[in-house]
Amino acid sequence: MFVSDCLTVNQKGHLSIGGCDTVDLAHQYGTPLMAMDEDTIRAHCRAFRQSIDRCYDGNGLVLYASKAFSCKAIYRLAKEEGLGVDVVSGGELYTALQAGFPAERIYFHGNNKTREELEMALDNGVGRIVVDNLTELQTLDKLAGEKGKKADILFRIKPGIDAHTHQFIRTGQIDSKFGLALENGEAMEGVKKALTYQNINLCGMHCHIGSQIHDISPFELAGEVMMGFLHQVKEQTGHVMQELNLGGGFGVKYTDEDHPIPYEDYMERVSTAVKAKAKEYGLPVPFILLEPGRSIIATAGITLYTVGAVKEIKDIRNYVSIDGGMTDNPRYALYQSSYDILVANRANEPKDYTATIAGKCCESGDLIQENASIQKPQPGDILAVQATGAYNYSMASNYNRIPRPAVVFVSGGKSREVIRRESYEDLCRNDV
Ligand code: LLP
Repeated sequence: MFVSDCLTVNQKGHLSIGGCDTVDLAHQYGTPLMAMDEDTIRAHCRAFRQSIDRCYDGNGLVLYASKAFSCKAIYRLAKEEGLGVDVVSGGELYTALQAGFPAERIYFHGNNKTREELEMALDNGVGRIVVDNLTELQTLDKLAGEKGKKADILFRIKPGIDAHTHQFIRTGQIDSKFGLALENGEAMEGVKKALTYQNINLCGMHCHIGSQIHDISPFELAGEVMMGFLHQVKEQTGHVMQELNLGGGFGVKYTDEDHPIPYEDYMERVSTAVKAKAKEYGLPVPFILLEPGRSIIATAGITLYTVGAVKEIKDIRNYVSIDGGMTDNPRYALYQSSYDILVANRANEPKDYTATIAGKCCESGDLIQENASIQKPQPGDILAVQATGAYNYSMASNYNRIPRPAVVFVSGGKSREVIRRESYEDLCRNDV
């Protein structure tokens, strides 16, 4: 019934998250509200850490891909849990630094980092800059030289693997804006160039084959392909790369249709494949990095809305309007993503009503789900959408000048605000 153990039904028949009654949370903080169970996030961080430590004999680091949800509180949590982080913009980098996240455990991604962003990364001493292309490599070499520094980099490589996922979120193929392709020699050319630059220290390679993947095989193949490339690099240049970042992309349970793979199984098979290739090529097993985003945070979060009008259009469909929508969750509009939805104040009642959940934006496509099974709602009810922790708040917008919701962390029956609700004044702050 629920996608996460942090969700239960309490004695009042209300949905509860992390021991907090969701109806009380909605009244206390207002709606729309995102609630995230801190213990679940921490448990995911620990599971990944333990698993990587075990499978790679302590020679690995888990980076939280903070594009999934970025705010100071989550960087503090990642720091407490001993993770590194992946950031993809000056804004994410700034937030991480503001939260006191150790710069050396920050990995800076992005297919078009600006000069200012590269300078910011160098000035603050981020751990690695993941270089996407040769223009960036050249700029970085020049900037590092001007600052009298040497930039530690990884190269983003396209291993050319189709991970059978939605085409919008597939990033590992040759026709992708990210990285350098193996097939056409681009990647090797980049490596050879990087080795000639004075102010660049090439530490290793990175790949990311897609997102919401429920199959181990593409990950295993990516590990093998990347080890093959490290072998070629050694053959052709004599250099032994010490690091291999295998990206994120582990699938999570949004609904009962999803059957995610336990991290352990993934880690076991991929590490076995990587180690076997290292042996075959006579290479050391590189230091392994992984970048889970969704799998750390998605199922820890829910969004609570207040139901407004219910429109029953005979023989067509029932529209249930809520006080949020694509502004706080654009994933149905963008990817037709499935969600499990329920009426939080009648969580025990049967889901015998079919409804299309509509947001409040002036946009017909502003839907959270079509033909969802929920309890029959009344205006004023609290609607809960499960598994909204990843890529919801981080992709939120102010379309129609709708303020972004508040976010609370819950744990052991207690709640605390980690992002305040935007006010109308906030919306006008930069207007001149
Ligand atoms: N590393 C890199 C280089 C990435 O591009 C991504 C995600 C990750 C790690 C984390 O992947 P994850 O473990 O979260 O699957 N907005 C889309 C997802 C886009 C993912 C982009 N890259 C969505 O809402 O489904």
